[in-house]
Amino acid sequence: MTAPKYALKPVSLSAFTLNPGLTRRSAFARGAELLTLAALGTAAARSIRTVRAADAPSGPFGAPFGASSAKPRIGVFCFTWAGSGGEVASEMKRLNPSVTVTRIERAKPYPEEYTPTTEEAKREKAAAEFPELRPMPVSPKDFDVVVIGHPVWGGNLPRPLFTFLREHAEEFRGRRVLHYAMHGGSGLGDTDEDMRALLPGVPFRGVAFYGWGGLRDRDAVGIWMKQEGLL
Ligand SMILES: Cc1cc2nc3c(=O)[nH]c(=O)nc-3n(C[C@H](O)[C@H](O)[C@H](O)COP(=O)(O)O)c2cc1C
Repeated sequence: MTAPKYALKPVSLSAFTLNPGLTRRSAFARGAELLTLAALGTAAARSIRTVRAADAPSGPFGAPFGASSAKPRIGVFCFTWAGSGGEVASEMKRLNPSVTVTRIERAKPYPEEYTPTTEEAKREKAAAEFPELRPMPVSPKDFDVVVIGHPVWGGNLPRPLFTFLREHAEEFRGRRVLHYAMHGGSGLGDTDEDMRALLPGVPFRGVAFYGWGGLRDRDAVGIWMKQEGLL
């Protein structure tokens, strides 16, 4: 499979430990310093290339929702640390109020500060942990379309997504599955590969939105939703 052109090499976690003092809140304030990366990410988010060719739809996966009279139940399950993935989920809900947004949260919250969070993420990843999650009121089986929102951490899915996808893997069968990756330059990284390993045999499509310091291109969310028939 050819990687999409925008995709940079996955960024190692160590590349994201150079910001002492950064917190969930100040992550948003750092935006101005990163305009070059933002432009890159914005272009990526706007580009159809963010959907990988290998996951191009065929058969029922590609059937437009408009073709059926029943309105699909759309569930967005979002893990977000700094909030940009939550902004995407809110925008989805604003554009399509029928969307149900549910937050994926680790039972033991991550630290507030950036560097301790990267250290915790690195530790969890090295130990291949499946951290316990807070209970959720709904699950993928309650929806026709399941959208997973997550940041890219060290080029991969954050470990809470490993727990979520493993626990609910069987519920994804027969459903339309999408994921959106929030990133600070690496695009999807290896998150498609992680999804594929956790949901074997389940077709899905991924899109990347630039989110370092907050979601930059809100319009890209609506464009993507239209492309995927979610509007
Ligand atoms: C622990 C950690 C690791 C990260 N690793 C990456 C990475 O590998 N590649 C990347 O592009 N961005 C990386 N970032 C930046 C975030 O993916 C990016 O800011 C994203 O928009 C955050 O999503 P959120 O606001 O929903 O938490 C990392 C951030 C953190 C906190």
